[in-house]
Amino acid sequence: MPPADPASADPGPSVASLDTIVSLSKRRGFVFPSSEIYGGINAVWDYGPLGVELKNNVKRAWWRAMVQERDDIVGLDAGILMAPQVWVTSGHVASFSDPLVECETCHRRYRLDELPGAENLSQTELQDPTIVARLGLKCPADAGPLSAPRRFNLMFKTYMGPLEEDAALVYLRPETAQGIYVNFRNVQATSRKKIPFGIAQVGKAFRNEISPGNFVFRMREFEQMEMQYFVRPDAAAGFFEEWLERRRSWYHRYGVTPERLRTREHAPDELAHYARKAVDLEYRFPFGWKELEGIHNRADYDLGRHQEASGQSLEYYDTASDEHFIPWIVETSAGGDRAAFTFLIDAYREEEVRGEKRVVLGFHPDLAPYKVAVLPLLKKRPEIVELCGRIMFDLRRDIMAVYDDTASIGKLYRRQDEIGTPWCVTVDVESLEDGAVTVRDRDTMAQERVPVEGVKRFILDRMEAARA
Ligand code: GAP
Repeated sequence: MPPADPASADPGPSVASLDTIVSLSKRRGFVFPSSEIYGGINAVWDYGPLGVELKNNVKRAWWRAMVQERDDIVGLDAGILMAPQVWVTSGHVASFSDPLVECETCHRRYRLDELPGAENLSQTELQDPTIVARLGLKCPADAGPLSAPRRFNLMFKTYMGPLEEDAALVYLRPETAQGIYVNFRNVQATSRKKIPFGIAQVGKAFRNEISPGNFVFRMREFEQMEMQYFVRPDAAAGFFEEWLERRRSWYHRYGVTPERLRTREHAPDELAHYARKAVDLEYRFPFGWKELEGIHNRADYDLGRHQEASGQSLEYYDTASDEHFIPWIVETSAGGDRAAFTFLIDAYREEEVRGEKRVVLGFHPDLAPYKVAVLPLLKKRPEIVELCGRIMFDLRRDIMAVYDDTASIGKLYRRQDEIGTPWCVTVDVESLEDGAVTVRDRDTMAQERVPVEGVKRFILDRMEAARA
């Protein structure tokens, strides 16, 4: 495996133990194990009330940067199920696989490159039938002998229609990208975009991972946020570098600590079957540096293969140069879940305030599940509760807001800090006289009196300022 960019010393993770994030997620309603009352299902996770807000905000922020703020990229929402031939043509049926080894005594199965002692093997070594014996690898569970590696295809299969036979076989898509390639002509013709232009899509993908894990880092059902940028062949290398920097700065823009992001280029024998060049943006997770997003130069592989297999022309006519050619593709491929997970981990901090621990999720306001919480100082005073109701009514038409009166004000503040709410609005007895409320800032804990009628403007202005 080639080294990552040398400038990056290890800054350490923002939280030492993944368990801290897993337990906060469960306790506060970000993420639950799927089907938990039946004992769960491996590698599938459900997003609770706060998690769904966070993930939707991440997807929205991505869409804003990739589609809304640009003239040259349009959106698409293609089906999860596609003609099975798509996956034959794309190369996934033949080569979308990981090296699997099996314990000959307990029959547990492992992804070879995740076994202790095999993490840094090259792709060539991972396919070597003698590698297990040569390295003396054993089953981590019972030290039993392991089989030679074989390729295990990661695509889920199902059947379409009332027949369970090969003729009805379809796949759950393992990437959203193919939906974009097969719609290239439709989108280009209807949007009248000229090269260079892109098509963006957010949606579910499914992979029967051999060893999922690390909470929502590697799942069998997950979401991708992918953009395919169609360019002239001679421009692909330049756009690759541009998109790499743009994607890195998107994570900075939404608050990821720059030192915890680095790039790592794939070695030639590590490249996916479609890629000419691939660079991973890696994040320093509590379990090490791992891929967050991939930037790929896919050349004319995808459109070329689909043109050949479908018999339909996917060439582009460039009026400026009077040339016909198959566009090359620069892909930015991010995980919606992995991005949300990264923002959650990176936002986590613990502080000591007046001798007590304060846990804060320092989310960017655009990503925070709630932007503002409205809190009554005395819930037994109906006039205070009624004023809270009026403020909530005004806020929630434009801003995600929450009302909470289930504890003392100190506890309510701590609770909102722990779920990352940037501002709390407190209504007290004085508010009934002076028509003003206290707005508390999550990060500085500074408090300001703001007239009731100016609260929404106050919050919206601060959200705008955070975007600048
Ligand atoms: N279209 C190219 C492609 O799919 P990839 O590197 O296989 O490339 C892109 O996947 C991104 O999708 C990864 O960087 C990661 O964020 C996300 N991803 C891939 N497999 C995942 C899994 N099993 N669970 C969660 N996210 C995953």
